[in-house]
Amino acid sequence: MDHLNQSMVTFFIIKGISDVPELQIPIFLLVLLIYLLTLGGNMTILVLVYLDPHLHTPMYFFLVNLSILDMSSTTVTLHKIILTGLTGNRATSYVSCMAQMYFVGSFITDELLVLTAMSYDRYVAICNPLRYTVIMNHRDSALLAIACWVLGLIEVIPYMVLIGGFSCYRSNVVNHFFCDVVPVIKLPCNDTSTLEILFIFEGAFLLTLSPFLLTFLSYIFIIVTIMKIHTRAGRHKAFYTCSSHLTIVILLYTTLICQYLTPIKEDSLEYNKLLALLNMVAVPILNPLIYSLKNKDVKNALKKKLHF
Ligand SMILES: *[C@@H]1O[C@H](CO)[C@@H](O)[C@H](O)[C@H]1NC(C)=O
Repeated sequence: MDHLNQSMVTFFIIKGISDVPELQIPIFLLVLLIYLLTLGGNMTILVLVYLDPHLHTPMYFFLVNLSILDMSSTTVTLHKIILTGLTGNRATSYVSCMAQMYFVGSFITDELLVLTAMSYDRYVAICNPLRYTVIMNHRDSALLAIACWVLGLIEVIPYMVLIGGFSCYRSNVVNHFFCDVVPVIKLPCNDTSTLEILFIFEGAFLLTLSPFLLTFLSYIFIIVTIMKIHTRAGRHKAFYTCSSHLTIVILLYTTLICQYLTPIKEDSLEYNKLLALLNMVAVPILNPLIYSLKNKDVKNALKKKLHF
């Protein structure tokens, strides 16, 4: 079922990471392991933050937001590989493919926005420490978090409406391991140039560049403030409180820019799949690791709960 000239598509075939039969079981086991580790790591962060009163600060509540996002987005992106491994069925219904695109798109935006909110939190903590509890109060930081989620859910609607309008597909085989926008918009026989322009404009300029610039700006202020601290120990301590966040920011933006801003060509889809794997899999699993390995407060909370 490869050429569907002028016909409606009711389901898509998800090609997966690889076609090679011998690789199916190793890929399945690896993805299952990664998925369980991601759930485990992020659940640990969630439980620790709720149980330990020392972690009841906006920074850690935002981190919980990030963990929930990470668990949701890996569930959306990896469940098909795991199900295919169990049932051998590569087909996914049209509706569930559209739902995947919608949620992956909005989770990525949410993640960037929550990280931007966290950089604002770090900016206030370092540049305006005396007023930190006043500025980052519960109500305002909760509102900020809600705004991030809502914006993420709304932002995807325009290009999902365009994608939903395509009625004719050349093929229903998605060369990816989930329904991602980049491979799916290669499939319609209609002209997709409006969609591609909208996607690049929204994705690149509105939703990647603006959070990036805001984060960048926060870090410029943070660095200037840190440079003004006279003692070396003081500078080190101030930098330490934002190093986990900065690591995740660099990791996420680098993989996202490589994945979505490289020109979309048929022959770059394999490369795009690898980047997506890195982005969708490495980032969610590294978030809790970076925060627990690099962060004294989280390490202490973990030790206390495990009675070391
Ligand atoms: C998300 O972050 C906000 C801001 O700190 C916080 O108020 C809210 O409780 C967090 N949400 C969850 C589910 O932890």
